[in-house]
Amino acid sequence: MRPDDASALRRLTEQLLRTNLRVGVDGRTGRGYRYLCPSPHEYRHQWFWDSCFHAVAAAHVDAEHAVAELETLLARQREDGFIGHMHFWERRRLDAGDLWSMLQSKPALRPRSSGLIQPPVLAQAVERVAEIAGDSSLPARFLARLDRYHAWLAEQRADGDGLLAVVSPYEAGTDHSPAFDAMLGVTAHHPSPYRLQARLRLLDLRLAVRGYDNARMLRTGPFYAKDPLVNALYADALETMARMHRAQANNAAAEGYEARATQTAEAMLRKMYSPERGAFFLLEGRGEERVDCLTVAGLMPLTVQRLPADVAGEVIERCLTDAERFRLHYPLPSVAACDPAFDSRGQALSWRGPAWVNTNWLVWRGLRRHGFDDLAEQLTARTVEMVAGAGLREFYNPLTGEGLGAKSFGWSALALDMAEGTR
Ligand code: GLC
Repeated sequence: MRPDDASALRRLTEQLLRTNLRVGVDGRTGRGYRYLCPSPHEYRHQWFWDSCFHAVAAAHVDAEHAVAELETLLARQREDGFIGHMHFWERRRLDAGDLWSMLQSKPALRPRSSGLIQPPVLAQAVERVAEIAGDSSLPARFLARLDRYHAWLAEQRADGDGLLAVVSPYEAGTDHSPAFDAMLGVTAHHPSPYRLQARLRLLDLRLAVRGYDNARMLRTGPFYAKDPLVNALYADALETMARMHRAQANNAAAEGYEARATQTAEAMLRKMYSPERGAFFLLEGRGEERVDCLTVAGLMPLTVQRLPADVAGEVIERCLTDAERFRLHYPLPSVAACDPAFDSRGQALSWRGPAWVNTNWLVWRGLRRHGFDDLAEQLTARTVEMVAGAGLREFYNPLTGEGLGAKSFGWSALALDMAEGTR
């Protein structure tokens, strides 16, 4: 990694804290809010996993902002622990797209928060922000609310096998991934954006008819899947909760989280893992059929500490370091290069080939956790070069490093955490 690149990332992150900052007072509760929107033009509201990633990146330049970003997200936590995937703070200047987004809300929450979830990476963000800020008292401030959030997931979303189900591609965070095509009724490897978007809108309407009611969506919703990225982050979150409780000497709570992490990790291995292909696959529908589409989600269990060492080794050898699958010049493509749906520059449809910094960051953590420090360093070097070269873009062409999608995109600043963490 060139020292110039690391300082360029720092500057980009400082700039992000100015351009994407949203500060104000919530008219309804009178409470202040402070968060980074994912991108000033395309995504003006607060998104769940974006804010978690923003907090981690921001912690390197403004620890106070990092904590405020997490507090703002938690301000929208419901009594029962649920936290929606989008939060609408600014009432002014709503446009047609916003109104459509609001349709993704439970009527009772409208127009404040969505009724969907996003991948659970909040506990990890709290732990990492505390590490970066050097503030070991921070987790204690959040633990009770994090307990309620994970209890909601365990009680309302986890199946008997310990795996979380998602009821929309938006919940998996990888909106247009080809792994979801069949469930949406899309057959072409390179569908028209219009057709795929229309299918997603139809799904939104069908969930709205169910009032975004969790039990109804799970029981009768038209989309039901167990996603490897969501579940890897769930197991990772449970392990993180165990570590944070252990540090507070809450041993019984820590053991509870550990037992749940083990159950989730074992179910992922049993149901999603293919030893022949060295990767994890999406389970589609209530019949849990494996979807034969190799995406970056299939590598995410690397983030899980209790993933057996031989499985981690296989995923790395068969997928991560294979030039026909994921080792492109600028890793990691969101879909394996050998998959017929792979499209290196797809802009209108996301998650069908381009590289995203958040998944690089997650794999980087996993590599370090499993002792593959050299590979983690290589991944950092390429990610940092890509982001320093093209700026903070939503995603990048994995063959050329060209920046694609939204500009001034928040979570791409995670490259700074990789650069600082690898030093
Ligand atoms: C896109 C991404 C989603 C993200 C959102 C805001 O919809 O697929 O994961 O949270 O943008 O950046």
